[in-house]
Amino acid sequence: MKVLVTGGLGYIGSHTVVELQQEGFEVVIIDNLSNSRIEVLDQITSITGIKPQFEQFDLLDKEKVSDFFNTNRVDGVIHFAASKAVGESVEKPLLYYQNNLGSLLNLLQAMLRTDQDHFIFSSSCTVYGQADVLPITENAPIKPAESPYGNTKKISEDVLSDVVKAHDFHAIALRYFNPIGAHPSAKIGELPLGVPQNLIPYVTQTAAGIREQLSVFGDDYPTPDGTAIRDYIHVVDLAKAHIVALKRLVQKEYQSPIEFFNIGTGMGSSVLEVIQAFEKATQQKLNYKIVDRRAGDITAAYADTTLANTTLGWRAEKSLEEALKDAWEWQLQQK
Ligand code: WQD
Repeated sequence: MKVLVTGGLGYIGSHTVVELQQEGFEVVIIDNLSNSRIEVLDQITSITGIKPQFEQFDLLDKEKVSDFFNTNRVDGVIHFAASKAVGESVEKPLLYYQNNLGSLLNLLQAMLRTDQDHFIFSSSCTVYGQADVLPITENAPIKPAESPYGNTKKISEDVLSDVVKAHDFHAIALRYFNPIGAHPSAKIGELPLGVPQNLIPYVTQTAAGIREQLSVFGDDYPTPDGTAIRDYIHVVDLAKAHIVALKRLVQKEYQSPIEFFNIGTGMGSSVLEVIQAFEKATQQKLNYKIVDRRAGDITAAYADTTLANTTLGWRAEKSLEEALKDAWEWQLQQK
């Protein structure tokens, strides 16, 4: 079976391509290289021994998207390609609405026109904002977005919900918690461009001496140690969830035309707990200091994984320590 992976040279996309190929799927990648590197294509090939078909263009180019679906028939689409920096989205909202929504609409229009189905959408727990009840289930209220980035995820889910009502079309939205780590081969991993916004790349770059010191954004949250809690999931576990979701769509095992699943470990870890786990897993001492909270951050988020475990039939298997070790091994490979 042939699967299109948009953003397939990106962090989660590349790990998903590897798992797809190892499951026997034929993969075609569309990526505009705006936030990824062409070297990742060779690294994927070196892991699996199979070079994915690669098309370099922007999903905002409606004609190119249309031509692609005129000349390729796929059994499913996994859509990762999007801008994803929360802070940048606040500064450049139009870029985020244009890119994230425009790309989605072009994809969906071309799929419907050529009668191609089965769409997996890369969503985010950010749609819940600060949930009132923890752990977070899929029917937790969707809160007003804290950023244009988060809003594009919410709006995209709404677009999909309306499309599956109007057309014979089927989708699954996977709401990721916090993806971390790297492939155990250390050949692919997170490639943050510039100063890392996310915690783990900043941790590994600090341990590697690239960054002077990690700033812990606040220790006055209402949590056991005062630092904010998140559900950190190994990117390989996350990638595998996409394979399970794709099979569910292709084999028509879905219970409704659109389904939503929280993809996390179900375990919350505070920033200080992550630091301790990193030091234990890597035997690297981390230089950090407590500073003020970061604007827009929530206190705590971790998944209720019951639906993913039972209905979807997927469960995270790798530990926080394993993810941190893999992130460190990947960091050591960087020039
Ligand atoms: C995690 C925790 C920070 C950096 C965001 C998006 C989410 C997804 C993942 C794209 C928080 C703390 C961080 C640092 C710190 N993005 N932290 N020092 O904010 O939970 O989620 O990234 O798909 O949609 O919302 O992830 O890694 O930025 O922060 O103390 O240098 O680490 O305050 O508590 P976040 P994060």
